[in-house]
Amino acid sequence: MTWIEIDRSSGISLYRQIYDCYRRKILQGEMRSGEQLPSTRELAANLQVSRNIVIEAYEQLLAEGYIEGRHGSGTYVAEGAYLEGIGGQAAPSPLSDALTGHEQRDIIHFRPGIPALDLFPRKLWGKLTEQIYNQAPHDAFGYGKPEGRHELRTAVTRYLRRTRGILCEPEQLLITTGATQALGLIAKLLLASGSEVIVEDPLTHEIHTIFKMPGAELLPIPVDEQGLLTQLLPHDRKPAFTYVTPSHQFPMGGVLPIQRRVQLIQFARATDSYIVEDDYDSEFRYDSAPISSLQGLDPERVIYIGTFSKIVSPALRIGYLILPPSLIERARDLKWLTDLHTPALEQLTLARFIEEGYLERHIAKMKKVYRKRRDFMVQTLQQRFGDNMRIMGSSTGLHLLAEFPGIEFTQDVLSKIEAYGVRVHPVEIHAIRKGTGHEHRILLGYGNVSEANIAEGIRRLAAALSAIQSL
Ligand SMILES: Cc1ncc(COP(=O)(O)O)c(C=O)c1O
Repeated sequence: MTWIEIDRSSGISLYRQIYDCYRRKILQGEMRSGEQLPSTRELAANLQVSRNIVIEAYEQLLAEGYIEGRHGSGTYVAEGAYLEGIGGQAAPSPLSDALTGHEQRDIIHFRPGIPALDLFPRKLWGKLTEQIYNQAPHDAFGYGKPEGRHELRTAVTRYLRRTRGILCEPEQLLITTGATQALGLIAKLLLASGSEVIVEDPLTHEIHTIFKMPGAELLPIPVDEQGLLTQLLPHDRKPAFTYVTPSHQFPMGGVLPIQRRVQLIQFARATDSYIVEDDYDSEFRYDSAPISSLQGLDPERVIYIGTFSKIVSPALRIGYLILPPSLIERARDLKWLTDLHTPALEQLTLARFIEEGYLERHIAKMKKVYRKRRDFMVQTLQQRFGDNMRIMGSSTGLHLLAEFPGIEFTQDVLSKIEAYGVRVHPVEIHAIRKGTGHEHRILLGYGNVSEANIAEGIRRLAAALSAIQSL
């Protein structure tokens, strides 16, 4: 009988590993038709997993015809599932690697916007979760309110007051399923077919799509190394809002100076429009002093978006909106009609994590880790490329930008780089107007990459670029 092994640290579900393993063995002919598989009970005991997991994997293999059950005598490899020359390829992943972060090969992925996943405070989070499950009031297990648990809204309000100088009442806060949902809600709330939105160019390409979905027209304003070029704001237009990432422009990395913040607010007042301030990672600031949030400068006009994806984990899917009073009621209704509310028990765990002081300690610890990784990446890039490369936007966040004059990061070039075992992200995909210089720039995320992998990844990148240039 053929037994298999599983890897609990791989991040791939156990069900999927069992299914993949038998499927591969059958397709490759390692298990021949008529060969018996262990019973689900035996395999579960052998692998120390729940029997349901094995049953689920067997049911999938059965449904796809790889195996068959013979009444009363067990499970066997079916006829005709051996395919010559299939090699070692795994079944296609149900989710794309870009979404799950799984790497099929030994690829070093400088993916921007991912915190150090191995440093998530698992034990502490587990302990707090257990406390919440034991102690939360009964109502926490029912349907909640669209604006979120009051415990979390109060904890976030106090946290923002302490650390960001943002003054708001818990009533102005709407807990969302990440900043992404907050952006979707704003788009539905304020945009319709034909509306105009002013956006930074470049801007996260998913956000282009979110704003375009209701049929709005994007009015792109270029950014420089300090962020939005506010002198180019079009005073003859009537936008619904201007979307900005003033604490750390994504992807270019600039921090918007106070003079431009003031100009932006003057523009919003003159055009009677809103500003959407997306503050997705400003807690990780290494070289510069924080600048007042736009929200603090004009709470009536600014819609502020925050997220716990970078400071705790993107898997939490918890973010929030601070809304001017005039929008609160409609935003709550829309959230209710979208998904009723964000999962309540995670909200309570997070509230406790904040109120007991763990969040600020975790941020302080992670800031040291990221600063070291940032310094190391800057130093390694400079050693490898010297004057042939320019670093931008490295003072904040979890990524920096590297410009290589003379190299155009086309899809073909990126595939060639990946063949060397390193994946980088082009800035050009985030550009609204193409061909304005971003083709020579890549994003290098270091949040979830160890120093050893930074060194190896940059070595591979240098080898790839030198091979490409000598072609
Ligand atoms: C500028 C910007 N805003 C928002 C988000 C989304 O964050 P969340 O995970 O909270 O949906 C991202 C993700 O990286 C981002 O880059």
